[in-house]
Amino acid sequence: DWTMGAYREEAIAKIREQVGAEKVICGLSGGVDSSVAAVLIHEAIGDQLTCVFVDHGLLRMGEADEVVRLFRDHYNIPLVHVQAQELFLGELEGVSDPEIKRKTIGRLFIDVFDAEAKKIGGAKFLAQGTLYPDVIESVSFTGGPSVTIKSHHNVGGLPERMNMQLVEPLRELFKDEVRVLGKELGLPEAFVGRHPFPGPGLAIRCPGTITGEKLDALRKADAIYLDEIRKAGLYDTIWQAFAVILPVKTVGVMGDGRTYDHVCALRAVTSVDGMTADFYPFDMAFLGRVATRIINEVKGINRVTYDITSKPPGTIEWE
Ligand code: XMP
Repeated sequence: DWTMGAYREEAIAKIREQVGAEKVICGLSGGVDSSVAAVLIHEAIGDQLTCVFVDHGLLRMGEADEVVRLFRDHYNIPLVHVQAQELFLGELEGVSDPEIKRKTIGRLFIDVFDAEAKKIGGAKFLAQGTLYPDVIESVSFTGGPSVTIKSHHNVGGLPERMNMQLVEPLRELFKDEVRVLGKELGLPEAFVGRHPFPGPGLAIRCPGTITGEKLDALRKADAIYLDEIRKAGLYDTIWQAFAVILPVKTVGVMGDGRTYDHVCALRAVTSVDGMTADFYPFDMAFLGRVATRIINEVKGINRVTYDITSKPPGTIEWE
């Protein structure tokens, strides 16, 4: 793709011009966007770049290992893996308001990045994989009054006191374009095709307060759901699919016993850019299979529902 080839060269020149000889820290989330940003910036400035992957305790099953392996083994890009589970989960304890969750997480990310910047002798720049839709949605709602729908931690949620300047080489791109750029940069096909995953992670898939127990159940349910989606050959047709654990318990029966456990909601949508989305019309047999597996295999969940809301009026994530 000659257009993306040209974009790549231009972006590299811009990064070099902005950054000069200074050091850059890149926050990796494990998603496509920040990974593409990191590889692009590494191509531009080599080892002036240090990637920081923060495990905030809100990642999916196996996610930390996958990301660390890709960057260390495949790319040889210096990567700091920060274990910050206690910090994040501690600060989020008892927090149920979605915007407070997002802002708390955004603030802690910056604290961690600042600390890592000091450790490498001072970084003047923080790089992020912000896309065009992130910019728009954090600022206003298309066609309506200027209202913040959600504070994306990598756009609106940054504290004013942040010391570093931002490097955002993907700010003009949409998701499908980032995927083309990722392929152009040689990222593995399977990685480039990954579903989006939000920076605040599982925190915003756990409405109400976040507990270790809920996160644990959520991770297992989510892994089962995605496993079935892959087995059915539907992963690439769907923009994003994930489980949500609700702060509601309902009564069930299992064997001869009564259960009283959480409800799990399943979400799957098709979309081009994440700005609008349609719920995915699974066949009922598929949903039944997933529900049975989740209830049988996940302690703490005894009921499964499917979210049939499109965007608008719903958003893709629940918070
Ligand atoms: P919503 O829920 O606003 O999501 O319809 C649109 C897309 O954006 C992702 N998302 C985020 N990504 N940081 C991110 O990097 C965030 O704070 C964030 N919030 C939502 C969401 O997963 C979907 O793909």
